[in-house]
Amino acid sequence: MTIAIDVHLPADQATAMEQDVREGLARVPKELSPKYFYDERGSQLFEDITELEEYYPTRRERQILVERSAEIVAAAGNPATLIELGSGSASKTRHLLDAMRDAGTLRAYVPVDISEEITRETATALVEEYPGLDVHGLVCDFEAHLERTPTTSEAGARLIAFLGGTIGNLYPDERAAFLCRIAALLDPGDHLLLGTDLVKDVDRLELAYDDPGGVTAEFNKNVLCVLNRELGGDFDPDAFAHVARWDAEHEWIDIGLRSLADQDVRLEALDLTVDYAAGEVMRTEISTKFTRPRLEESYAGTGLKMADWFTDPAGDYALSLAQLA
Ligand code: SAH
Ligand code: AVI
Repeated sequence: MTIAIDVHLPADQATAMEQDVREGLARVPKELSPKYFYDERGSQLFEDITELEEYYPTRRERQILVERSAEIVAAAGNPATLIELGSGSASKTRHLLDAMRDAGTLRAYVPVDISEEITRETATALVEEYPGLDVHGLVCDFEAHLERTPTTSEAGARLIAFLGGTIGNLYPDERAAFLCRIAALLDPGDHLLLGTDLVKDVDRLELAYDDPGGVTAEFNKNVLCVLNRELGGDFDPDAFAHVARWDAEHEWIDIGLRSLADQDVRLEALDLTVDYAAGEVMRTEISTKFTRPRLEESYAGTGLKMADWFTDPAGDYALSLAQLA
């Protein structure tokens, strides 16, 4: 058993964030990247979301993995290595690892996440839970440094898992570019296992992203706390309201923060004062919902093709298995 964690956050990461935030705040409407949700507190708030009655995606994905991991792992050619993008706490991933262990092929697990704290915790827990497992964690922005993930498999096939529906947080052009880059990482015989939430009743969708207990609101507003800490900001989280609305044209939940008043916010590190009008909404995330044809369309032209499709009995959520086209 071995454990290693590589941190590939570039030395100029602060500058990258500064540029990114400056650009997002100059857009009309203003926008922040959802990757800034996930400091230690944000990762914990996301874990809290996954336990909410209203937030069904985690439960549904878990249900598929509990019932069908053995089938999924067999369809993926009994891989030896599981690479997981946006791994977080990897709570559902255990079902895949169990199936790989039961098949006798499990050798290595590679969690890839932008949050160093949660990646260290996950890696440490997994080496203890799976004796003999090699765990090689990578802390990086998977949009910028996907090529840092191991490209050679010493032995056996590799399965890249991208669970939780996180692909839905990318815009269509980012999603296409991301899938192309995953295709470039795969060898023949390797697979991608992709989790996607599915289009459904609007009320259920909106409730999942606006729980009455306010946990999602807290998660959303955490991005303001991150900006205050990292960029010397003076955002007052109480001066913004959480908004989550279904956008039927794009088939995504549009998540943002609505300014409750006319206000100026200072970001010292950017030497920038940003003005918000009362009622103005700054987007903080989109969460795209899929249908099977839309997902097949998403794979088209990326070098990948769908090989298998697994849903929960209610048809709320899907895991698709893809391979090189
Ligand atoms: N896969 C887990 C966690 C999903 S939450 C689940 O299904 O429950 C999204 C995860 O992706 C978080 O752990 C977050 O830190 C990570 N993440 C978000 N944007 C990222 C990025 N650009 N690069 C790497 N990791 C990212
Ligand atoms: C991580 N990602 C898939 C979550 C989602 O459902 O889009 C993030 C989230 N945002 C609000 N609630 C959960």
